[in-house]
Amino acid sequence: MQLRKPDAVENVAVLGAGTIGASWAAHFLAHGIGVRVWDPAEGFEAKVREFIARAWPSLKRLGAPAQPDEAKISFFADPAEAVSACDFVQESGPENKEIKIALYERLDDALPEGVVLASSSSGLLISELQAGRVGAERYVIGHPFNPPHLIPLVEVVGGRVSDPAAVDWALAFYNGCGKKAVRINREVPGHLANRLQVALWREVVHLVDTGVASVEDVDTAIAFGPGLRWSLMGPNLILHLAGGEGGMRHFLDHLGPSIEAWWADLGTPALDEAVGRKLIEGTEAAAKGRSIAQLAEERDRLLVGLLEMLARERGAGG
Ligand SMILES: NC(=O)c1ccc[n+]([C@@H]2O[C@H](COP(=O)([O-])OP(=O)(O)OC[C@H]3O[C@@H](n4cnc5c(N)ncnc54)[C@H](O)[C@@H]3O)[C@@H](O)[C@H]2O)c1
Repeated sequence: MQLRKPDAVENVAVLGAGTIGASWAAHFLAHGIGVRVWDPAEGFEAKVREFIARAWPSLKRLGAPAQPDEAKISFFADPAEAVSACDFVQESGPENKEIKIALYERLDDALPEGVVLASSSSGLLISELQAGRVGAERYVIGHPFNPPHLIPLVEVVGGRVSDPAAVDWALAFYNGCGKKAVRINREVPGHLANRLQVALWREVVHLVDTGVASVEDVDTAIAFGPGLRWSLMGPNLILHLAGGEGGMRHFLDHLGPSIEAWWADLGTPALDEAVGRKLIEGTEAAAKGRSIAQLAEERDRLLVGLLEMLARERGAGG
């Protein structure tokens, strides 16, 4: 497969422009890349414009130009038209296998040669989405974290018939436009980071359900403890440091047996109605009257501050 250069992308087609697609559009625009947006919903253009306007102050703090370049955003009534003159496609339609397959069918005759398509899917297997497509080898997963215009991580994984070069291409493209892309070697439901999140959350649910701690205290324990360290290095390097001069080797000798005993004691809760009620009531209490919009504003404001600090401290290329 002949691919275009990942650092020469001028236009990205953004297919599906809800929570994730609109945020991707803001991200690409902030990095000087043109966006060609399509969504089947009535009035999507106004919603995307509004999202970008709301996101821009944060993006500006992170280095975007003063205003989005109006000439670089266009809206289409047909996905085939949106992809017809693009260098990359970021698909963010609903998390539904049939809907994604039906959309990809509409692109068969329109996707220019050598253009990679990445799906934002949170957990579907690209093998199941790409089967039978024209140019199926250029379909990959490019899974972002919400909101993609602020959270750097993108997880990239290919399916059964993806060309490894398309996976490499997507990694290079994302890393070249302000994202931190990681390669997943083999597709698994939920990809990588969502599996890690839900592994931790399974134990959160168990601890709350069995009354070990309140929802609020669990959140405090993570946000003021390991969560702070994880945003700097990740769990393995952090535990390497927990082993002192002996690093991970000493950590395993010293604490490995205890950890195996704790593993054996971890819970496997069900998300039934009674558990759901405890989680909802506990989370509403932890929100202390703050609305979803207020919490989102607080998250984004603190996140931008953290990203600014990390960029400053790590320097270029960090
Ligand atoms: N929300 C998250 O936290 C999150 C995070 C990472 C990835 N994702 C993934 O991103 C994708 C989009 O999720 P979202 O949260 O933005 O959903 P959303 O419901 O906010 O947006 C989906 C958009 O798709 C449009 N749409 C409806 N029918 C469509 C069709 N037939 N073809 C294309 N688009 C259609 C809708 O009008 C809507 O604008 C999903 O695959 C999801 O798994 C979501």
